[in-house]
Amino acid sequence: MGLTMRIVYVNGDYLADTEAKISIFDRGFLFADGVYEVTSVLDGKLIDFTGHCTRLRRSLGELHMSLSLDDDQLLSIHRELVTRNALVEGLIYLQVTRGAADRDFVFPPADTPETVVLFTQEKPLIDSMLAARGQVIRTVEDQRWGRCDIKTVQLLFPSLAKMEAKAQGGDDAWLVRDGFVTEGSSNNAYIVLADGTIVTRDLSHSILSGITRKAVLECARKLQMKIEERPFTVEEALGAVEAFSTSASGFVSPVIEIDGHTIGEGKPGSTARQLREVYIAEMRKAAI
Ligand code: PDD
Repeated sequence: MGLTMRIVYVNGDYLADTEAKISIFDRGFLFADGVYEVTSVLDGKLIDFTGHCTRLRRSLGELHMSLSLDDDQLLSIHRELVTRNALVEGLIYLQVTRGAADRDFVFPPADTPETVVLFTQEKPLIDSMLAARGQVIRTVEDQRWGRCDIKTVQLLFPSLAKMEAKAQGGDDAWLVRDGFVTEGSSNNAYIVLADGTIVTRDLSHSILSGITRKAVLECARKLQMKIEERPFTVEEALGAVEAFSTSASGFVSPVIEIDGHTIGEGKPGSTARQLREVYIAEMRKAAI
C-alpha cells in the first residue's frame, strides 16, 4: 500500500507527514527502545481509549520510561488527528520512545525528552474481507523475547512470522511455544470447543493483554458463554469447532483453516460472528 498524505503529530506539532522529522539518534530507531498503541476509530470516534491509555502506562512503567503528556492531553491529540485527517474509520497509531541520545546501551539521563509520534491510518474495519471470508492460519514457532506483555516496537519477529505464514498460503501466523499457541502475530487467539466453551491463553509474560480481548471476554460472559483462560495446543486447535482472533484492527476475526486442517465447517462460526456483532455494537455505544 502506498503512503497517503496526512497530518501527523510529532513532539507537540501537527505537520504534513513529509515535514515530520525524527533524529537518526532516536533510541526507537537504534534500539527499538519504545512502546506503542493502536486505537481503532469508528464513526470518527475512539474505541476503548481508556483501555489503550492504561496499557500504554503499564508498558512505559515496565521499561522505566516516562511520558510528559497526561491522558487528557493524549485524548485531545487523538481527537485533533481524527479531525484534521477527517478520519471516519481506521486506526490511530501512537509511539513513545526514550528519545534521542548518543548511541549507548546505557539509558540516557531520565530528563532526556521522550519522542512522541501519532498518525492516522484509514482502514475499513467493519466491512472486512477477512471477517467475511475467515482467516487461513499457519502456525510458526514463537521466537519472540520473554516479555510479550509489553507492547514494544520490536516487531521484526511477528513480521517474519506473518511473511512465513503468507509464503505458505496463509493470511496470518499463530505463534507456538512448547506446542502451545501463545497468540497471533498481532492479535490474541481463541478456539471454541464442541460444548461451546471459548478457550484463550491466560495472561502472562507470553502474550499481550489485548484491549479487545478484555472487552470481547466481557461480551462473552454477558452472553453466558463459557470461557477457559488456559494454554491450548495446536492439536486441540485443529480439533476445535471454531477459532478466531481479536485485535483493535481486526475486532473479532474468524479462522476457517489452520495448517491445512479445516476448522468446523470451513466458514466463519456462529460464536465468532455473534461476538463480533455484539462487540462492535457495545464499542460503538461507548466510543468517545
Ligand atoms: N496489535 N497480541 C499482539 C502480539 C498484538 O500485537 C496485538 C495488537 C494484540 C491485540 O491487542 P489489542 O486487542 O489491544 O489490539 C495481541 C496491534 C493491533 C498492531 O500491532 O497493529
